This record gives sequence, C-alpha cells and structure tokens, in this order.
Amino acid sequence: MPPDDLLERVVNLCKRRGFVFPSAEIYGGFRSTYDYGPLGVLALRNVKDAWWRSMVQLRDEVVGIDAAILTSPKVLEASGHLTNFTDPLVDCRNCKERWRADDVAEACPNCGSTDLTQPRPFNTMFKTHAGPVEDEGAEVYLRPETAQGMFLDFASVLQTTRKRPPFGIAQIGKSFRNEITPGNFVFRTREFEQMEMEYFVPPAEANTWFEYWCAERMAWYQSLGIPEDRLRLREHDKEELSHYSARTADVELAFPWGWGELEGSGNRTDYDLKAHSAASGERLEYFEPSTGERYVPYVIEPAAGATRAMMAFLLAAYDEDEVGGEHRTVLRLNRRISPYAVTVLPLSKKETLTPVARKVLALCQPHFMCDYDETQSIGRRYRRQDEIGTPYCVTVDFATLDDMAVTIRERDSTDQVRVPIDGLVEELRARLPLT
Ligand code: GAP
Repeated sequence: MPPDDLLERVVNLCKRRGFVFPSAEIYGGFRSTYDYGPLGVLALRNVKDAWWRSMVQLRDEVVGIDAAILTSPKVLEASGHLTNFTDPLVDCRNCKERWRADDVAEACPNCGSTDLTQPRPFNTMFKTHAGPVEDEGAEVYLRPETAQGMFLDFASVLQTTRKRPPFGIAQIGKSFRNEITPGNFVFRTREFEQMEMEYFVPPAEANTWFEYWCAERMAWYQSLGIPEDRLRLREHDKEELSHYSARTADVELAFPWGWGELEGSGNRTDYDLKAHSAASGERLEYFEPSTGERYVPYVIEPAAGATRAMMAFLLAAYDEDEVGGEHRTVLRLNRRISPYAVTVLPLSKKETLTPVARKVLALCQPHFMCDYDETQSIGRRYRRQDEIGTPYCVTVDFATLDDMAVTIRERDSTDQVRVPIDGLVEELRARLPLT
C-alpha cells in the first residue's frame, strides 16, 4: 500500500535528489513554475523518448513535426480557442481568492465563505506581443495545445510524405495555459509539455480508430510499469466534451488525491481541418488518386502530458522496504524511464581502483546513461542509487585487479552476479531495453 503522504514524499525526493526544483527558488519561487534538475531532465527525456518510440519510430504511418509555439490569433480564432478555451471562474467576495468553479463545492476552499460570484468564463490562453509595438495588430498567443501545429501543417506533410489515411502527425513540445488553480506539484502547471498525435482517418473508420487508440494508450502506461489496477479509462459525458470533440475518453490514474486525468483520446471529427480551411481559403482535404475521391479526414487524437506522465511514473514507482534489516527508499522505475541505466562504483576510493573503475565507466558510457559515485560506504551508495531508480550498479573491487571481473547488482532484487569486464556491455545490453 502506498503511504498516506505519498505525494509529499515524492515531492521531497524530487527536490532532494534533483528531479524537480521550484523555479526561481532563490526569490521564493515563482507562480507554481518548476525546473527539471539533472535527474528530472533525464527522466523526462526518457518519457518523451518512450512515447516517440511507440508512436513514431515503431510505426511507418506516423511522422513527426516540431511547430512554432508563438501562434497567430487568426489560427486560434478559427480553431475556436479564442471563444471557447475557457474555464469557469468564481471570485470569493470575502478573501478575494479566485477559483475554478469545479474546485469549489459550496464554499470558498480558502476561507470557507459562501459569498461567491456566479461562475464566468475565463480564457486561459497567454497573450503577448510580437515586435516592438504593443498594439492589437501585434498580438500573439503561446499555444495552449501542440495540436494546432499538426492541422496547420497537414497539407505540407501530405505533400512531402505522400501518406494516405490512416496516418498520423506527432509532436512533443511545450504548451501554456493560464490555469486559475495550478497545483498538485507538476500535475497542473501553467507551462508544461505535451505529447500529441493527430491521426487522420476516413470518417467511416473514426469510431474504430478511437477505440484502437484508447486501448493502445492504456497499454503504453502499463508497459512502462504502472499497475493495471491504478489505471482506468473514463469516457466523457456530452456536457464535459471540448468544443471540438465528438467523443473523448481519459486514461485516469489513481493519484494520491483520487482519480485524475493522465491523458485524453478524442475524436475531433473534421472540425479543425474544416475550420482552418474555411478561415484560410486553403483546401485541407485528402485526394485518393485510385478512386478520384476527395474528403476531409476525421481526426483521432491521443493527447498526453509529458510532465504529468513523469510525475505519474514517479508516484507509481515509489516504494520503501528493508534490505538486510536496513530501511531503504527505492524507485522501482521501468528501465526505460530511470534517469541512469548504470552506475559504476569503485568499492573504495583507493588509487589502485579508480583507474579501473574509470575504464569501466568509459566502456559503458557510449551505450548507456551512466553515473559514477565513489564517496561514502558502498552500502550507502547502493541506497542512493536505489532512491533514484538506477536499475544496475557495477562495482569494481580489489578482486577486479586480479580477475578483471566486476559485480552487477540489480536494484529490485539486490541480486548480484560477477561478470568479466570484456563481457560487461553485452551483459548489460541483454538486461536493458533498446531506446
Ligand atoms: N489537444 C488536446 C488537449 O490538449 P487536454 O486534455 O487539454 O487535451 C492533454 O490536454 C494532456 O495534456 C492532459 O491529459 C494532461 O496530461 C496534459 N495537460 C493539460 N493541461 C496541463 C497542465 N496545466 N499542466 C500539466 N499537464 C497538462
């Protein structure tokens, strides 16, 4: 059973070990923004790589793009975001706090007052100006989702790749939303990373592909170590659907505060392509040369958050147990997600061991993300690596100087095996996944 204060323990570990720091902490932090530290940046990159591998690398019908973050108001007007991308906001007349209406039951969570305004729509897009003049004509938005880039580049991708439906365009990148109540660590922030794929299909096949992608995305989280019983798929009611969606289902995780959205898969129909076609005057459709048929594809969109997913993997991996009568904290992260795959540890800091240990490190570095640690007792160093989820430690000891072999220690079982240095990379390769 996860501890009651799991979130607090994971947040502490993240800060103490360099996964995630509050941004601008020397100034007391800045408006729920976060920085990813030396370990967080590796884990986050691994989450994104695992997504890219499953959504792009292992498929021949999906290609990637990296579109601009600065977005024209024309795009967001056509997509409906200028009018519809709103959250209902209520003000507390007593303490002047502002809340998302869905976070407030009867009374203000801050002061308990029931003297609240009626909910009113609050557009959550960030607006700024391009160029030196700050007038209306210079207004630009930070994109609130990566998805629009895929619709804007639809015709160029079709033309340059000659793909035919069903095919997908994928993108990973930052999105921005002026959330009224960011919180629960990096679960909801104003600046975050998304991993989205727009899958263009013949309209008659939309429901089949919607169900296909819902199942695929559930399986992805499980394949990376989230237990099945902590995940569920929840389909949205009609009233809950976004302005562009005919159907949406969320992959939800049992977060410490209850079930919460990890990602959503939507059937966006032909809403976006038609809207951009009407507003831009460009034809955004598919022409099938073999039949002479022209149509606007429907879009199935699995839309995930990279930063939220990283948090989910950390929460699911956090564990405490005993090894040899000693308490340890261990992140049972999937090997694809762990910041380091391998850590090289000389048994002691003795001059005779260091050059051999450094040689072992140099052997491993081209193949795996490696750490090297030579300070404090070997037991403490194993604990430190367990706490950050490193699946394998490679220990160089005095016997190594005679037999040119090292010990591989596995994180979860703490089992150890002795292998010759010249077979080490091969042995680790067999145990670690390809990236
Ligand atoms: N293009 C569709 C779309 O953006 P969404 O459900 O609003 O759909 C997709 O966002 C995913 O992006 C969410 O499931 C979540 O993982 C992540 N996400 C959305 N808002 C976020 C926020 N404020 N902070 C962190 N992640 C967020």
